Amino acid sequence: MNIVLITGGSRGIGAATAVECARRGLGVVLTYNNNPAAAEAVVAGITETGGTAVAMKLDVSDSASFSAFHDSLHTALQITWDRTTFDYLFNNAGYGLYHPIGTVTEQQFDDLFKVHLRGPFFLTQTLLPLIADGGHIVNLVSATSRVATAGVAPYASFKGGLEVLTRYLAKELGPRRIRANSVAPGPIRTELGGGLNDEFETLLASQTALGRVGEPEDVAVAIAGLLSDDSRWINAQSIELAGGYII
Ligand SMILES: NC(=O)c1ccc[n+]([C@@H]2O[C@H](COP(=O)([O-])OP(=O)(O)OC[C@H]3O[C@@H](n4cnc5c(N)ncnc54)[C@H](OP(=O)(O)O)[C@@H]3O)[C@@H](O)[C@H]2O)c1
Repeated sequence: MNIVLITGGSRGIGAATAVECARRGLGVVLTYNNNPAAAEAVVAGITETGGTAVAMKLDVSDSASFSAFHDSLHTALQITWDRTTFDYLFNNAGYGLYHPIGTVTEQQFDDLFKVHLRGPFFLTQTLLPLIADGGHIVNLVSATSRVATAGVAPYASFKGGLEVLTRYLAKELGPRRIRANSVAPGPIRTELGGGLNDEFETLLASQTALGRVGEPEDVAVAIAGLLSDDSRWINAQSIELAGGYII
């Protein structure tokens, strides 16, 4: 059984991806930060339908905790799957901040940096010894790196950095046959940044060729497909999952 580790798997895109991966027969490790109950509900849903999942606490902004997380993960893999490695890392955890450039504080900038670029970099570095050769790293970036959207400059900039880092991961990990790709959702109906109100959703839907905003499940099936062997020759790419947003 292949195993996927999903950061931020307690809600939104991460939770939907956990469910979809389990439905396709993968073992799932999902992490949560502030919502253990939500994470346990995702685990329970997967277990009830015959899948295997475990939830673990991880704050991706706290790189000092990554070594201990590595050790806890190693133990969980052994206990749950009798493995010492896992196959797929999905760097998904994140949050939104809507502030025009003129009002962003240094603290807000640094906090976003820690979650969206520094965290994925050093978490991946820490977990590399646990990722099986032939595995796959997927980084969750954003269509806001392509379409300049007022109010999300630091967020979009760090997502852009993560997109570049993805290509470097593919380059340096190629000798271990580890692929690295990023996926860039457009607007998706989650609780990110407080969620969508009706007016904003109508605007975003009108800017999307397929005429609606995305659902977490639209992203989840694409990621599960990217992890599968059908996508084995897709590497070092950024794939927009946006239904044709502002084209
Ligand atoms: N929704 C969109 O329109 C959209 C578009 C493009 C990209 N994205 C990206 O997609 C990813 C998932 O977002 P979402 O829309 O699914 O948002 P969401 O529903 O708000 O879920 C965010 C998830 O990230 C976790 N998280 C947040 N901060 C964390 C931290 N410091 N350490 C560890 N986990 C943390 C949360 O965990 P807890 O709840 O346990 O704290 C939660 O599981 C993010 O990277 C986001 O930037 C979203």
